[in-house]
Amino acid sequence: MNLLVTGGCGFIGANFVHEQRRQYPQDRLVVLDALTYCGNLRNLESLSSDPGVAFVRGDICDADRVAQLLRDDHMDAIVHFAAESHVDRSILGPLPFVQTNVVGTTVLLEAARKAQVQRFLHVSTDEVYGTLGPTDPPFTEETPLAPRSPYAASKAASDHLALAYAHTYGLPVVVTRCSNNYGPFQFPEKLLPLMILSALADQPLPVYGDGQQVRDWIYVEDHCRGIDAALRRGRPGAVYNFGGRAERTNLEMVHAILELVGKPRSLIRFVADRLGHDRRYAVECSRAEHELDWHARWSLDDGLRETVRWYREHPSWCQSVQSGEYRTFYDRNYTTRLAESTEVAQCG
Ligand code: NAD
Ligand code: DAU
Repeated sequence: MNLLVTGGCGFIGANFVHEQRRQYPQDRLVVLDALTYCGNLRNLESLSSDPGVAFVRGDICDADRVAQLLRDDHMDAIVHFAAESHVDRSILGPLPFVQTNVVGTTVLLEAARKAQVQRFLHVSTDEVYGTLGPTDPPFTEETPLAPRSPYAASKAASDHLALAYAHTYGLPVVVTRCSNNYGPFQFPEKLLPLMILSALADQPLPVYGDGQQVRDWIYVEDHCRGIDAALRRGRPGAVYNFGGRAERTNLEMVHAILELVGKPRSLIRFVADRLGHDRRYAVECSRAEHELDWHARWSLDDGLRETVRWYREHPSWCQSVQSGEYRTFYDRNYTTRLAESTEVAQCG
């Protein structure tokens, strides 16, 4: 299979690319990524000599570039991760979220329709369902969409467009909606890596509001296996939820990290709450379990231990991300080569 992976230099996309190379070495992957502030080519550095992976720097909103890639590289399928993904940033400035998540997704859908790709896997989020009360049942795929942040609203719009392309044009779209991921390569603006790196550096850990908001946590490798199962075995036009069946309050997560890192709870600082903060997410994922034979393999304890170990053992990745040095990696490695050639290069 020839796969176009958008956003493959971000957290989940990079984990997905590594997992695909381990599982399907015969496939060919083209990673399309704009390398925004959270796109990091170093996340794919270890694949630098892999002839089955190519990297293209480009924006999913660029219709000509996307059409050219689908045509010249004969893509069979698209796995679409590229997005603005951070809720706090969407509260500060919603427009980039509309541009990439809504317009960019539509550009991709339109190009996929014209190129007649065999599968369009749209990676979405449980946040499109809104928020839950403490005793509400978890979100199912039938739960009406009720997004409450600009990020969630932009993702919900993109879900509607993806499913409209399936319905109207028969484009073989599959939508996945997952809960909170954690694991290697996550940009330290999100709760877990921020808390791990702050704890390792004896810096304060900012907990929003009362810290009693609940999220359902899933180790990123389990999510990537779910996306792969939906890509290869999902019904066209279907939605699949994924989650870890591991609901925890933010404060419980922060306590667990402090314990693993061996630092005191006195590092915690309660700070002003996020505007419009969703109180609880929980995901029912039995459709994926029954139809796709997918099951989360990682317990939260094992996943958290592995994640803390990864950040401890990759000080140079952490340092380059925290200092901003990672943003020069692309220029050092690619600028000349890209200018000279076809603008498709091996990673790393
Ligand atoms: P991320 O922010 O770490 O990575 C996003 C990637 O997309 C980056 O590499 C960035 O450079 C790229 N990108 C952004 N705008 C682009 C554009 N216009 N053109 C091309 N590339 C662009 O995000 P993530 O956490 O890895 O999330 C990936 C996807 O999974 C998103 O669609 C997100 O909504 C969804 N999701 C995330 C989670 C989670 O917990 N992180 C959970 C469920 C769903
Ligand atoms: O549910 C899936 C979603 O999970 C994804 O679609 C999003 O892309 C991803 O960012 C994540 O959204 P959240 O808003 O849940 O994740 P975040 O890591 O930003 O925050 C998790 C919780 O921790 C949330 O309740 C806010 C809180 N928080 C976050 C930060 C960054 C804090 O208390 N302090 C912080 O410093």
